[in-house]
Amino acid sequence: MLIVSVVGARPNFMKLGPVAKELASRRLRHVVVHTGQHYDGDMSDAFFRDLDLPHPDHHLAVGPGSHAFQTAAVMQRLEPVLENLRPDLVLVYGDVNSTLGAALTAAKLGLRVGHVEAGLRSRDRTMPEELNRIVTDRIADLLFAPSDDAVDNLRAEGIADEGVHLVGNVMIDTLCQALPRARTFEAPRRHGLEGRPYVVATLHRPSNVDHAGTLRELLETLRELGRSTPVLFPVHPRTQARMASLGLRGDGLRLCPPLGYVEMLGLVASSSLVITDSGGLQEETTFLGIPCLTARPTTERPITCTRGTNRLVPSRRTALLTAARDALRRGPGPRPVIQWWDGRTAQRMVQVVCETVPAPRRSDPRVAVSLSASS
Ligand code: UD1
Repeated sequence: MLIVSVVGARPNFMKLGPVAKELASRRLRHVVVHTGQHYDGDMSDAFFRDLDLPHPDHHLAVGPGSHAFQTAAVMQRLEPVLENLRPDLVLVYGDVNSTLGAALTAAKLGLRVGHVEAGLRSRDRTMPEELNRIVTDRIADLLFAPSDDAVDNLRAEGIADEGVHLVGNVMIDTLCQALPRARTFEAPRRHGLEGRPYVVATLHRPSNVDHAGTLRELLETLRELGRSTPVLFPVHPRTQARMASLGLRGDGLRLCPPLGYVEMLGLVASSSLVITDSGGLQEETTFLGIPCLTARPTTERPITCTRGTNRLVPSRRTALLTAARDALRRGPGPRPVIQWWDGRTAQRMVQVVCETVPAPRRSDPRVAVSLSASS
């Protein structure tokens, strides 16, 4: 059996690791394609190093551009790679433009598509990721859902039960595997934050950073919070570009470039509060039991609010400051436990793959090659 994973952006890389390890442990052939949607060292290479990910077998060098450009470029450049490999399954991860481009390309070539993190919905179609999620789920054959609400969403959209598999959250696998290293890395000490309350903030959603007024208000709010509690703010390249063009310097905040996975996890795990608009951090804070405020009107991960530590807050000064001070005063509650977020999602996923993806036909030229290679 040949499986191709297509990844392109930071949140994809975090999901690839446990799947790649599990496929390797079962001696399944796995080819990794990097679309190049994210390309800076600290947005891409650092994750491959940190998470010990397999070196990509193909790099499509798509780079930045509009949504149409990125999606189309992934399709054009991936098609010949998939035509040549003719894999038994193409795995796509999450909800970025690379996910959609890869799923469409594979489906149009008649290849089976597996979607890791299927069924999440914010019900906000102004978010590019929501469109990516809906279309990818529509054309995927295997839908790996992280939680029961995701299964309900797929059912409500009329997606047949046979393809839907509740396997859990693969990002929590990554977290469980990296947490011991994150603790010994001592990131809080390296940032001068050891033994004191501090806040970690990240912002990169277009709705928060692409409008000058909103971005200015968010930075002002963080600065005000920073007067009483240090705020560490790793700045995403998109946010960095907007801040630079508006002449916003982030005074009063501890700004740093995007951090590697292990360093960021170590910082989040010892923080008192996270303020973010990221999807992954909502889940990671819930698993770790760290209070999280998400500066967005909706979330595709409602389970982090209903059963976790997350709370949605408008991207406005008063609302955020009140919620942040309240969270800091109350401190962390009991650590939530969410079913299937147990570090064994990749095992369950690959088991499903082995049970449901048909073995290659004996006339398949790849079988002949591998048989002759091993004889
Ligand atoms: C993308 C995903 C988003 C995810 C985020 C995580 C889509 C639609 N969005 O958003 O869901 O949460 O990644 O980071 O796919 N840039 C660099 N270097 C890089 C990558 C990006 O400088 O390595 C800059 C470029 O100016 C680029 C901009 O950031 O134009 C935005 O990058 P892009 O991949 O389009 O979207 P993200 O905002 O990163």
